[in-house]
Amino acid sequence: MTVGSFTSDWFCLTIFGLCDYPAVTPYTVPFPSPKTNKTRPAVSGETPIQIVHFSDVHVDLSYEVGANYNCSDNICCRAYTAAQGLGNTSYPAGPWGNHNCDAPFDLEKSLYAAIQEIVPNAALTLFTGDVRILKMTNLTLVYGVVGNHDINPINSFPPSDINTTISSQYTYDALSALWTTWIGSTAAATAATNPGAYSVVYPGGNLRIISLNTMMYYKDNFWLFEATMETDPSGQLAWLVDEFQAAEDAGHTHKDEFQIAYSKYTDQTADTAVGVLYIAPALTPTSGNPAFRVYDVDPVTFAVLDMTEYITNMSTSTYQTDGPVWEKYYTVKEAYGPLMTPPSTSRTDPGLLA
Ligand SMILES: *[C@@H]1O[C@H](CO)[C@@H](O)[C@H](O)[C@H]1NC(C)=O
Ligand SMILES: *[C@@H]1O[C@H](CO)[C@@H](O)[C@H](O)[C@H]1NC(C)=O
Ligand SMILES: *[C@@H]1O[C@H](CO)[C@@H](O)[C@H](O)[C@H]1NC(C)=O
Ligand SMILES: *[C@@H]1O[C@H](CO)[C@@H](O)[C@H](O)[C@H]1NC(C)=O
Ligand SMILES: *[C@@H]1O[C@H](CO)[C@@H](O)[C@H](O)[C@H]1NC(C)=O
Repeated sequence: MTVGSFTSDWFCLTIFGLCDYPAVTPYTVPFPSPKTNKTRPAVSGETPIQIVHFSDVHVDLSYEVGANYNCSDNICCRAYTAAQGLGNTSYPAGPWGNHNCDAPFDLEKSLYAAIQEIVPNAALTLFTGDVRILKMTNLTLVYGVVGNHDINPINSFPPSDINTTISSQYTYDALSALWTTWIGSTAAATAATNPGAYSVVYPGGNLRIISLNTMMYYKDNFWLFEATMETDPSGQLAWLVDEFQAAEDAGHTHKDEFQIAYSKYTDQTADTAVGVLYIAPALTPTSGNPAFRVYDVDPVTFAVLDMTEYITNMSTSTYQTDGPVWEKYYTVKEAYGPLMTPPSTSRTDPGLLA
């Protein structure tokens, strides 16, 4: 670190508090679309749900009942030496914790028991990081984040473009595995690589939950103090913008999609499938090649029997000179019908889309 550089000034300020703030470097976070003028919706008046929020469990598995709570180390209640152990100190730690010590395991378990007793019908729980949340908590829906203590060495979160063997990947892998039960495998897979951040829709309502790994910006994460400090380590802001934009765009998606509705959310099988939602692709080229679709519909029952997607390929050399050439892209029956058991390829067989 060169003394007097932007980086060293920041280090001096954030770690020692001895320097002044360096001049702000303007940095624009680009959004694909302009901000809309939507305002906060009015309160519904319905019975509120309850959300539990807890943080910084800091369980200390080396905590020992009877160990010295009045020590000269950062954290007490550990038998660092025999003299600090049970029976050898005038300051014996109690079973449920001490202000000089991190939480004993029993205190952690009592937290989870209390949550279940006090708010048994909580809609969801937020855990904002730091060692740890037990698999056996029995909390039904927990959204977690990466904490600065969830790694060893502490605070070490190298941005993805730094080549180092001191990787924080094992923490992302462990948290991702732990979170899967609550956030599902898709969001968990994102968390494993993103790194540590994910985005998921709350199953009980129209709410998107985004968990950001703010450790990437934490002042004690020394990886930040490179000669050229990164404005967006691991591209998290760019990812966040994409998530916001995707949420903004949802409703109409601009994409060629379909959705299946089930009578029972927890039992998504062919037997409980009750309907198909047809989501048409967009003409606007912002979302890819312009496209539209044509439905084959039973004239009596009006069941949709097939649909054909048409696009115009904008990358052809003649597109701008000769104009759009519309062509068939695929039909659902041709693309998916042969994969069914038994195959459903006839345009009048309602099996796939009715
Ligand atoms: C939002 O409102 C402002 C002020 O009325 C207007 O200038 C702007 O164009 C609007 N933006 C959108 C995206 O509608
Ligand atoms: C800790 O021990 C010192 C003596 O070593 C004593 O003066 C002090 O009162 C003790 N603190 C507490 C909280 O018991
Ligand atoms: C207390 O000190 C004695 C003598 O040093 C030692 O043998 C014993 O193990 C210590 N107790 C604990 C719980 O560390
Ligand atoms: C979770 O529930 C099981 C079964 O009811 C119970 O045995 C266990 O003690 C509970 N765990 C916690 C941490 O509350
Ligand atoms: C990372 O560093 C190692 C060890 O110096 C080197 O062998 C490897 O080629 C580097 N990888 C990249 C992508 O720079």
